[in-house]
Amino acid sequence: MLNRFSAVVVAVLAWHAGAFAAPSPQHETPQDQAPQNQASQNQPLQNQPLQNQTLQNIYGRTHQNLDGRWHYIVDPYETGYYDYRRKPYDESEKGSGGYYDDRQPKDKGDIVEYSFDGSPTLAIPGDWNSQDARLEFYEGTVWMRQKFDAAPKDGKRYFLYFGAVNYEAHVYLNGKKLGSHKGGFTPFQFDVTGKLAAGSNTVVVKADNKRHQDEIPTVSTDWWNYGGITRDVLLAEVPATYIADYKVQLAKGDARRIEGYVQLDGARKEQEVTVTIPEANLSAKVRTDANGRATIRIPVKALRYWSPEDPKLYGMTIAAGGDKVSDRIGFRTIETRGRDILLNGKSTFWRGVSLHDESPLIPGRLRGSGDMRMLLQWAKDMNCNYVRLAHYPHSEEMIRLADEMGLMVWAEVPVYWTISWQNPATLQNAQQQLTELVVRDKNRASVVVWSIGNETPVSEPRNAFMFKLADTVRALDDTRLVGAALEVHRKGNEVTVEDPLADKLDLASFNEYAGWYWASNKDMLDFHFNIPYDKPVMITEFGADALGGFHGDADTRWSEEYQDQLYKNQFRMLEAIPGLRGMTPWVLVDFRSPRRPHPYFQDFWNRKGLISQTGKRKQAFHTLKAYYDKKQQQYQQNKQNQQNQQN
Ligand code: GCU
Repeated sequence: MLNRFSAVVVAVLAWHAGAFAAPSPQHETPQDQAPQNQASQNQPLQNQPLQNQTLQNIYGRTHQNLDGRWHYIVDPYETGYYDYRRKPYDESEKGSGGYYDDRQPKDKGDIVEYSFDGSPTLAIPGDWNSQDARLEFYEGTVWMRQKFDAAPKDGKRYFLYFGAVNYEAHVYLNGKKLGSHKGGFTPFQFDVTGKLAAGSNTVVVKADNKRHQDEIPTVSTDWWNYGGITRDVLLAEVPATYIADYKVQLAKGDARRIEGYVQLDGARKEQEVTVTIPEANLSAKVRTDANGRATIRIPVKALRYWSPEDPKLYGMTIAAGGDKVSDRIGFRTIETRGRDILLNGKSTFWRGVSLHDESPLIPGRLRGSGDMRMLLQWAKDMNCNYVRLAHYPHSEEMIRLADEMGLMVWAEVPVYWTISWQNPATLQNAQQQLTELVVRDKNRASVVVWSIGNETPVSEPRNAFMFKLADTVRALDDTRLVGAALEVHRKGNEVTVEDPLADKLDLASFNEYAGWYWASNKDMLDFHFNIPYDKPVMITEFGADALGGFHGDADTRWSEEYQDQLYKNQFRMLEAIPGLRGMTPWVLVDFRSPRRPHPYFQDFWNRKGLISQTGKRKQAFHTLKAYYDKKQQQYQQNKQNQQNQQN
């Protein structure tokens, strides 16, 4: 069922490499299109319809929002999916029998042992754990149903799009299976052209967030395993031939040239395409080839380049045949030179913080731009110019907000701790999630690093796995840096980063918990870092737990004073590292974790936040801000000096 992974990954890689084979014409007209069932999803690449890859910039298309209150049924034994012989109903001859039938009793003699109408509702998008006290710790299957009206038009294509469903989703429309998807943090869609009824429609989603060793993430993480439909559900309408995908960014390391492509899907693939950026007085007219693809190259005279200080976004419109899509895009170059990181050619220091996709005030996954903006504004209040969105892809909305607010982004896939390195399906799963992330966010100026993992233990099978991931992401996008949060090794007071994966990365990026998991405020300054790489050094995590409002001296664990002193010690320790070019302390705000049961100090919260679960700023928040103010001045001075030398 899940071969969908390998096919999609290969498809996108081939596509990005421009080698896409034209799918057979029957994909075109809705009426005779074969249902997108398991069979088509298990097909090799060239039979995979283009529409399996999510539409670029779905919010820029005509769409109907299916968010709202969805009825739900909790189904720990998956009774609505398997018959008593554990055979999936949707694979049975009849194909019916499961809860996706949304059946009503025909008469008083009819047995129907479930009822969506009679069941409570969840706010979608939204995880179930924070909305139903019975489900706080629940990991299993929940069925969710939404009814909506549609008026499908001839000559139009329709896509049912999910921003994210954690973890394994099976989706049904009007009782028919559309398909399935694994991965709780990236978008997926189904072509429902010809499957929509004029009038009332029913979409049913079976979501299961059970953890498994061979999945991504695997069974052990330090965050809450929120289940459900956690991001928007949209029904998009596009013309029969439409703009499926595009990339419009500056060429790698070249601020004088915009480079990218437009990919059409539909019957009339060979079309004239115009790309216009009116405010910059830039435009291009190109023609797509038989595969519906055209490369874009636009020489640039003058542009306001995107940066945290000036997060300039330009309106951009692509028009092809009957389709048109507009977007807001920033243009910047990002590269490393030795130990420097150059943003638009200038050396920078990344004043960052790490954060989870979780709202502390109303526990649960972030629900909309309101609580997203709140978190990013907290980071800006600390004078950050950069955020590490850990440990999985956050929402498209969050990234677009970072574009707008001027925060550089480290984006990551949940290849976290000890994964099943030797299982090919696990590798394909990781590659797929990475591909879905890059496909979705490749036009976002704020995204400067693709991270392929966190604290993965060095071993031959792991190295092989991670090397493949590094190759996958470079094949998808060569204009951004590639990173991973590596681990350190200690011998006496020597702290070393020694990891073959570092050779595949653009940054010497690692987590170190000096003063908390090893050493203490008393002796952490006795330790010395040894980073044998001529690359910019990025501290992806350091930190200490502090219960907001709990006070003691700087040696009292869990106190704000301990955390604050640790930060001061960290700055002194890290400033001694010659190539230090940035950091993302762990973590912006306390977050929920099933691994943190201490009844008084934790209560299932990781307390390493610089802000408490009630939104209170801890002492270390101010200490970090003061350090960042100083760093900012230092780099502004450097820039000034460079300027003076050039003049
Ligand atoms: C790890 C890990 C985080 C975790 C943190 C901690 O390094 O990457 O996900 O929350 O340490 O222990 O607090």
